[in-house]
Amino acid sequence: MVRLAIFASGTGSNFEAIVHAEKNGGMPFTCALLVCDQPQAAVLVKADKAGVPSVVFEPKAFDDKAAFEQAIRAALEEHNIEFIALAGYMRLIGPTLLNSYEGKIVNIHPSLLPAFPGLNAVGQALQAGVKVTGVTIHYVDSGMDTGEIIAQQAVPVSDNDTEESLRKKIQAVEHTLYPETLANLLQSCEK
Ligand code: GAR
Repeated sequence: MVRLAIFASGTGSNFEAIVHAEKNGGMPFTCALLVCDQPQAAVLVKADKAGVPSVVFEPKAFDDKAAFEQAIRAALEEHNIEFIALAGYMRLIGPTLLNSYEGKIVNIHPSLLPAFPGLNAVGQALQAGVKVTGVTIHYVDSGMDTGEIIAQQAVPVSDNDTEESLRKKIQAVEHTLYPETLANLLQSCEK
């Protein structure tokens, strides 16, 4: 079993989907830790209910990003974490974590990258008037949503879609694509 840490900042529906997939069996990973940067985030309650240990680190408690990420790295080492999945973690990963987990950090983004990187990808897609958007899972590098693409799935945009309705459609896709993609990726590293 690959020991997986999930990083999240908010609601945690993707966290929940990955944990459910593990509980249903047949996954090559175990969700061994939640790393969160927001003490009030709903994802922390979900982790508690699911029995997944969690740690909270707020950047403002540290002198700089390196010190912030060193604290996260110490928690990851303590929990023997081998691979990291970002799931709504609204922060760029810096060199401290990138160097320690080279090629072992992935992210999910609610658009067909390279279209609509950064914040509010769903709103950006609606603004642009595209007829198709989607979901991308990619390796994390030092850029904003720029790493190598691993998997993508398209989601059609209807004329009457609102940000809320489109987000719902996108998240429904995320909740199956992320666990499946992690399973495919981690099958080859399983011990
Ligand atoms: C997800 O839709 C994810 O793709 C997006 O945040 C949402 C988190 O939802 N991530 C980004 O926009 C990253 N740039 P969740 O907390 O319910 O999993």
